[in-house]
Amino acid sequence: MLRARRAVQSMEQYSPPLDERSGLRLDFNENCVGCSPRVLARLCSIKADDLACYPERKPVETLVASFLQLIPEQVLLTNGADEAIHLLCETYLDEGDEVLLTVPSYSMYRIYAGATGARIVSVPGFHFPLSSLLAKVTDRTRLIVVANPNNPTGALAPQSDLLQLAESVPQAAVLVDEAYYEFSGRTVIDKIAANSNLFVARTFSKAYGMAGLRIGILGGPVEQMQMLRKVCSPYNVNQVALKCLPDAVEDQEYVNWYVDQVKSSRSQLENEFRALEIEYWPSHANFVLARIGDPTRAFVKAMKEQGVLVRDRSSDFGCKGWVRISVGTKEHTARLIEALRLVWSEIAVGRETAV
Ligand SMILES: Cc1ncc(COP(=O)(O)O)c(C=O)c1O
Repeated sequence: MLRARRAVQSMEQYSPPLDERSGLRLDFNENCVGCSPRVLARLCSIKADDLACYPERKPVETLVASFLQLIPEQVLLTNGADEAIHLLCETYLDEGDEVLLTVPSYSMYRIYAGATGARIVSVPGFHFPLSSLLAKVTDRTRLIVVANPNNPTGALAPQSDLLQLAESVPQAAVLVDEAYYEFSGRTVIDKIAANSNLFVARTFSKAYGMAGLRIGILGGPVEQMQMLRKVCSPYNVNQVALKCLPDAVEDQEYVNWYVDQVKSSRSQLENEFRALEIEYWPSHANFVLARIGDPTRAFVKAMKEQGVLVRDRSSDFGCKGWVRISVGTKEHTARLIEALRLVWSEIAVGRETAV
């Protein structure tokens, strides 16, 4: 009988709630209005002939590298940031190696690392746990992944901590996943050249509104990027995404507009949580994690009935009773807050009648 590898057999399947997502989608930290109109125009101009040939990644990679003030050899375009994580796991992990992950954090780290047969060492930390991470390092530690800002908390790790981590563990690849960089403005991408084991992942799925096109970036030291290119398909990024990417990068006016909308929405939502006396994590991303308490399921369901999708994070480490709500434009936020007030007051009434 055909059998998957032992590491795969023992994995749990990750099934995010992707079905029936109609309404205001504040459940997956996507851009809620979509990409720049320039990207859409480019998309509409694509011809049958464009789709007939294999994608050529290099010219767009060069353009993106220059946008990031890196050299092309330091940059690999990937099929979303997810592929960047996957490639790092495939390049650096042997069975029995150790991977350090902070928890709670983004689920795909565990999945890609777990599938290699590496041992996952989880380090709890709602605030970046530098000393606990360093305490768990062994000579088998080969990969450390930090989402910055973190998902689902929106918390930021200090740049000095990230650099200290990379310097202290030279035998491990240290990936700083900056999927939400545009909302935080903090990066270590400019430190890649000075660190032989530091990688940065970015994505066009969030601020740029292109999650459906699947395109991301991995930046890293030239010598190591040569290793990653060996593992990567030359056709990993699709032609449509490559055609659209130059427009996306050039239209910074659009990205800045959307980021401004998100930042203002985020403070509005945080103010609302304070007014409703709902505990939350101050966020540097395009979402806020809030403590709803016992009735998370009822809350998520009631919000959905109001046409607003939010994400129950109760199954994440230390997040029982917490719900993550993405923020988009000010207009979306007005709809969100209206629904939130209504649902929260219904929950409060339910609590009172239960007493
Ligand atoms: C921290 C983090 N990294 C990566 C991703 C995935 O990004 P992409 O759509 O580019 O694969 C997500 C998506 O939610 C995320 O939260």
